[in-house]
Amino acid sequence: MKDLKKIISEKKLFRSGMKNVVQYLLSKNIKLGELSGVEIFGGTGETDIFLAEKLKIFEIWEIDRNCFVELKKKFSKSKIDICNSIEKLEKEYNDTKFDVIVMDNPMNVYGPNKESTKYCEHFDILENIYKLINKEAIIIFLVNKKPFFYNKLHKKNLIWKNRRKEFYGDIDVENIGSYYLIKFYEEYFNKNKLEIIFSKNIPRHHPHLDYFIFKVRKNEVEVINSIDWISLNPLLERYKK
Ligand SMILES: C[S@@+](CC[C@H](N)C(=O)[O-])C[C@H]1O[C@@H](n2cnc3c(N)ncnc32)[C@H](O)[C@@H]1O
Repeated sequence: MKDLKKIISEKKLFRSGMKNVVQYLLSKNIKLGELSGVEIFGGTGETDIFLAEKLKIFEIWEIDRNCFVELKKKFSKSKIDICNSIEKLEKEYNDTKFDVIVMDNPMNVYGPNKESTKYCEHFDILENIYKLINKEAIIIFLVNKKPFFYNKLHKKNLIWKNRRKEFYGDIDVENIGSYYLIKFYEEYFNKNKLEIIFSKNIPRHHPHLDYFIFKVRKNEVEVINSIDWISLNPLLERYKK
């Protein structure tokens, strides 16, 4: 476990993950310099900066007011909004739309003030992400394939595990394969009227966290408003514990 902590605290490793995401997008001939982006879980922007510096515009949302000074220092040209991003997108949203959307959310259950288990990973915000999209967008977020559930956080981890099961289905949520996850999110976005143009996963630190990248296009055609669990069924069987 000590080694694992050391690996996680190696910020360099995290940064190289985002650098690889940028390289991948450039290799797909995405003209980053013409695009506007937003990070909706800004923190102090340690990893976001590598993407932000390639984009035309980069906005940052972050709940913690203490991050403001550091963000303003690093992203002097950016609009910084101190807000609860999840709540902001739960309401009617008629503000700026973006071409690149990054979600570097906390990697467990979390929440404001006394509601420390209100939210889980990106699960509570993903269904509203379409509100930030005009016609097409690149969505980048972290997916936890193999979470490490520290024993001392037993109660919180139980809630976290259950939230993962509610979200991903009745599979072994402690070890999910990339293939299942890509198919799962493709289904998820389709259900939200977002057609997939391309998808890709890029490791941030193997074997736990990957960046998942989906280029999507808004599709106004009526689709069944639920995950197609029938077509996912053969995969579900394979990933059950
Ligand atoms: C993993 S950190 C972000 C790291 C950052 N993107 C970077 O590059 O270093 C997650 C951030 O999400 C923020 N956060 C948690 N809940 C939030 C919410 N509801 N709305 C906005 N930000 C939130 C936390 O305060 C924390 O700074």
